[in-house]
Amino acid sequence: DESKLGVKGLVDSGLTSIPPLFIHPPETLSDLGPARPSSYSIPTIDLSGCDSGHRPSVVEEVGRAARGLGFFQVVNHGVPAEVLDRTIAAVKAFHEQPAEVKARIYRREMETGVAFFSNLDLFHSKAASWRDTLQIRLEPKGNMEEIPEVCRNEVMEWDQEVWRLGGLLMGLLSEGLGLSPGKLQELTCLETRVMVGNYYPYCPQPNLTVGLMSHTDPGVITLLLQDQVGGLQVKHDNEWVDVTPVPGALVVNIGDILQIMSNDEYKSVDHRVLANPNQEPRVSVAVFCNPSNRENEFRPFPELISSDKPAAFRQFNLNEYMRRFFTKELEGKSLINYF
Ligand code: SIN
Ligand code: FE2
Repeated sequence: DESKLGVKGLVDSGLTSIPPLFIHPPETLSDLGPARPSSYSIPTIDLSGCDSGHRPSVVEEVGRAARGLGFFQVVNHGVPAEVLDRTIAAVKAFHEQPAEVKARIYRREMETGVAFFSNLDLFHSKAASWRDTLQIRLEPKGNMEEIPEVCRNEVMEWDQEVWRLGGLLMGLLSEGLGLSPGKLQELTCLETRVMVGNYYPYCPQPNLTVGLMSHTDPGVITLLLQDQVGGLQVKHDNEWVDVTPVPGALVVNIGDILQIMSNDEYKSVDHRVLANPNQEPRVSVAVFCNPSNRENEFRPFPELISSDKPAAFRQFNLNEYMRRFFTKELEGKSLINYF
């Protein structure tokens, strides 16, 4: 039944309890809810000093955040506020189109081009999640005409901003490791980019399901734009910490590949999204930045290996890595455990 396409379709049909498919096991449900007040918070880093004498202190802050919580927010990043708003609005508009329009790109299997998914979590988990997803491969570029018209210009504009800001962040993260600023980008770390535009509709039973299961991101870095609704949480010292929306900010987090290349200096940490208890839907736009050459061997930077700090991971190539990621081989465990 097309009118019920996706989780939004279920909600629009007026249901008051969630279908059993969405109910997560007790181990997932036992610690849901807003984070308890804790001594941790996600740092917000002002990037305006990057091109000046303040760069060393920005590098220091970025490095500290990447080694600690593995997540930080950035402000004064150079992306105009209107572009942030336009991007969120465009992704929201995609999800709020009639079901028959979204159905044209609906996929049940992982696809690499442009696709609308719901419950792709079933790949990795036993239960479905309260979220719909629009996925678009940004680079290598496919046929841009395939991007739904309702968000095409905005997505292309967003990609340009991510490419620029991603480069800046790669530089800061390289320097934070004591490496030359170009080191990470030399490894083509920005040349495969996938965007997901998530839509988390109101959930009538947010204590029985999740918006997005706890996971680590497999890539190098993720740049995330979220609206002001909230629900993203990060695990630190066995405690969930809220990534509270900061107006105008972007969220940056470290992926598994960067943890490996940094020889375990930087941390790729578990994060999740709670099912949305608010009437207002939550929208987020994540861009995953990955190296492009899947035949290349990846391993910790030799500069970061010493007799005090031997290589914490073995060498691997991305074909092996992605195969493990997209099969059930991981059973919910982080990819990091395999290298
Ligand atoms: C993600 O972890 O990939 C997305 C998180 C979010 O929607 O905030
Ligand atoms: Fe993620």
